[in-house]
Amino acid sequence: MEHKTKTAFPQDFLWGAASAAYQVEGAWNEDGKGPSVWDNFVRIPGTTYKGSNGDIAVDHYHRYKEDVSLMAEQGLKTYRFSIAWSRIFPTGNGEINEKGLEFYDKLIDELLSYNIEPMITLYHWDIPQALMDQYNGWESRQIIEDFNNYARVLFERYGDRVKYWISLNEQNYFVSYGYETALHPPGVKDRKRMYEVNHIANLANATVIKSFRELVPNGKIGPSFAYKPYYPIDSNPENILAFENSEDLNNYFWMDIYAWGQYPITAWKYLKEQNLTPTIHDGDLELLRSAKPDFMGVNYYRTTTVEKNPLAGGVDIGVKNTTGKKGSGSQSGVPGMFKTTSNPHVETTNWDWDIDPQGLRIGLRRIATRYQLPVLITENGLGEFDKLEEGDIINDDYRIEYLKSHIQSIQDAISDGVDVLGYCAWSFTDLLSWLNGYQKRYGFVYVDRDEDSAKDLRRIKKKSFDWYKHVIETNGESL
Ligand code: NOJ
Repeated sequence: MEHKTKTAFPQDFLWGAASAAYQVEGAWNEDGKGPSVWDNFVRIPGTTYKGSNGDIAVDHYHRYKEDVSLMAEQGLKTYRFSIAWSRIFPTGNGEINEKGLEFYDKLIDELLSYNIEPMITLYHWDIPQALMDQYNGWESRQIIEDFNNYARVLFERYGDRVKYWISLNEQNYFVSYGYETALHPPGVKDRKRMYEVNHIANLANATVIKSFRELVPNGKIGPSFAYKPYYPIDSNPENILAFENSEDLNNYFWMDIYAWGQYPITAWKYLKEQNLTPTIHDGDLELLRSAKPDFMGVNYYRTTTVEKNPLAGGVDIGVKNTTGKKGSGSQSGVPGMFKTTSNPHVETTNWDWDIDPQGLRIGLRRIATRYQLPVLITENGLGEFDKLEEGDIINDDYRIEYLKSHIQSIQDAISDGVDVLGYCAWSFTDLLSWLNGYQKRYGFVYVDRDEDSAKDLRRIKKKSFDWYKHVIETNGESL
């Protein structure tokens, strides 16, 4: 679709940036915080790049004032951050740690003092270790009650000051990396368990949305889904079918639940044949149907192209590139459904992610058409090696190019009629990239540290910092 003139970004568009507790805070065992699964997982040899961890991360816990003042200088309208569950409940349930609540009080108040809208993620992967020890975490329905209690404490404490909330961050990744590829804690490879965990996470998500309606009636809440829109490699009907399979199994399997409370028919049938469907109790589907989000939160980084993959002898779980050595990742797939293949029309990053700004427009349109929900872009950004040059200069033109083309694509989607509430770039400062260490950088603000040493953790503005400042000042008119 082409437009004679493009529609402007709405006046109240939320220009922002995002982070997650484990990736920025550090202070992993301070002020009464209990351990999370990540605090333990990173200590298992071979799990992360060069054994990197978030013990100190970028020390946001102690430097949040400096970070927030940089956000204010950049003109951010919103800052999305997550709360570490085990700071609030060191053992997951039971006693509340007041000091944990106070830290986020201070962060929220600091943001508000500069008119920056705080946006809270309830869960960004760091489940308290104690809940794994008590009942295997997400594998038990007990977590629904504990997660709901935790969320209710947050809604009651911060609901007067915080309007925008994200329930679960990238549920599709924490279940698949945790229980299918074993790349994240608890490091399990078992698809049956993955689908059980996923169903329980769906129920927990719906339960907290219902609590939110009661406790923060004027707020807005939604999940942040890791959305990789799929493409077929060509118009061969076999590959179109593979593409439909990938959308059903890897995208609609989550988004249909969030929006409608139902699993897609064909993906469900496939799982049934493989004995992989989760256990459904009486009342589950009613609960799922009764908790509609206010928006679809989307973390968008790339598209994926697929082709036919036979059931017998087809490609299964592949190898991930976690080193930044281009081409070190491999094909992956689900036998009988689809397998990934390279898209000859797009470039890739050093971590083998397709760079596809148009894919964002396409994805936004697919969501708007299918669900008729507004979209909040909760993450988008480029992970790359950055070079700190003489005189504290970081010329990250490649990041500017990436962000600019994606923001243009959002405006195209708005011009097509999609209701986009805001855009959170990932990330504000550099941070720990889970498996990829500190060398894969995403921030507008460089943090002087690496995998070997926390160095001085100095904050240095990159070229993209001023570029985004200007984008915000002109409400996206000048990119
Ligand atoms: C999505 C996750 O939410 C975030 O934690 C991660 O660092 C980014 N993707 C980049 O991979």
